[in-house]
This record gives sequence, C-alpha cells and structure tokens, in this order.
Amino acid sequence: MTITILTLFPGLFDGFLTSSILGRAIARGLIDVRLVDIRDYAMDKHRVCDDAAYGGGPGMVMKAEPIAAALEANGAKLGEPGNALKVVYLTPAGRPYTQAIASELAKEKGLVLLCGRYEGVDQRVIDAFVTDEVSIGDYVLSGGEVAAMAVVDSIVRLIPGVITGVSLEEESFAAGLLEYPHYTRPEVFRGVKVPDVLVSGHHEKIRQWRLRKSIEKTMRFRPELLGSDKDSLPAEARELFKKIREEGVENERTQGA
Ligand code: 6GU
Repeated sequence: MTITILTLFPGLFDGFLTSSILGRAIARGLIDVRLVDIRDYAMDKHRVCDDAAYGGGPGMVMKAEPIAAALEANGAKLGEPGNALKVVYLTPAGRPYTQAIASELAKEKGLVLLCGRYEGVDQRVIDAFVTDEVSIGDYVLSGGEVAAMAVVDSIVRLIPGVITGVSLEEESFAAGLLEYPHYTRPEVFRGVKVPDVLVSGHHEKIRQWRLRKSIEKTMRFRPELLGSDKDSLPAEARELFKKIREEGVENERTQGA
C-alpha cells in the first residue's frame, strides 16, 4: 500500500515515519509513505499557497491550484467517482473517523491524505478531487497533520504482517469495549499488589475477569457504546453487561440511593 501525504509542513512527519511500528513497516517494505510538500506546486516564485477568503472574514484559505497540481502529480484524477485513488481530506468539518473507516482504508492499494491548514481548502478542489472528509474528534487542531498521523497509524497496524495476529485478535475479542487494565512486574508496587486472579494461572478466570473489567470501564467512560447497538457485542459480553448493571442497581438500593 502507498500512502501519499500532501502537506505544507512535511517536517512534522520526520520522527513519526522513522519510529516504532511504522518505521519498521516502512523499512520492511510493507507500506510506502510519500510526503509531498504542497508548496513545491505553488504557481509563483514566492510559493504562495494561501489567500484571503472571498466574502471576507478572518483567516486564510488554501489555494486550489497548488493542491490540484500536487494531487494530479501524485495519481489523483479529477472527478469522483472515477477517481483512481481515494483522496481523504483531514478537516474538523469531516465525518467522525472510526476503526471501521480505518479497516476500509486499509484495503486500498493507494491513498492520498490531504492536510488542511488555516481556515481550510478552497471548496472547488474538494469538490473535484476529494472522496472522503474525516475528523479525528470534536476539538480543533492547527492543521490536518496530526490527524493524518492518527489515520496512518491506525491503518498501518491493520496491514498484514505489521503487528502480530494475536494482538489483533485480542482487540476483536473486546470489539466495542474499552480495554481492561494491564499489569507487569513487580508483583507489588509501592504496597499495591497485582490482582490475585492474574497470578493464579487460571486462564479462564483471567479471561472472565478481563471481560468484566472491560465492561465496567466502558460503562464508566463510554456508556453510549453499550446503549443501542449491543448486537455488535459478543453474547457473553452482553450477558455480563446486564449482570453488572443489575448488581449496580442492587448496590444503589442497599446503600439507600
Ligand atoms: Cl482532521 N483537522 C483539524 N485541523 N482539526 C481537527 C481534525 C482535523 N480532527 C479533529 N480536529
């Protein structure tokens, strides 16, 4: 898979592309990441890539021509849906990025990520080239670069051979739930012992304990994940969720709540 990143700040990606899992995946040829400096496609000698907004108002807009030229030089074709490559525009005004989108994007042979800066990109370049607009959360970043790193990271770890199958299986076991807590040596840290079940050697009990902890954590931090669409949960998790919820109600009653 080839991921091409269009940005005004390619230097932001230096450490990201050479470290850890991604660095290794690139070195092993499992993925090819190309950085394109949009400024290299500017039309004038001052390499201007932004301009004031038509209609007035504060902030600058990224100009259409440099981005269009950069996209065309890197395999993007004008006009959806005949587009040969998926072109994803990173913007706080996009649809919420999810693991499901990561899985879809991970199947592509080629992908272009367009990082917005300032107030955004001229709408005409979006209309002509962009196949998807995504946001990584409800907060505003200075540009799409950090979001692009999140997207690349989430995709690369799904590419076969990048991380071990066991880790991925473990994640799907808890699909739709937050992760259970983890512990490593020493067994006692500042007087606090690791939960007994984890040193019991009883694999089935450990599995059940972890599932319970996952559900409890999800109920606390992300209750909406357990709300409507419980069908995505394994049957065992759904049963345990009901049980924990009833225990909770029971506790409130005995405490006079
Ligand atoms: Cl994709 N871009 C920017 N600039 N801010 C964001 C974002 C993207 N996702 C969340 N906030």
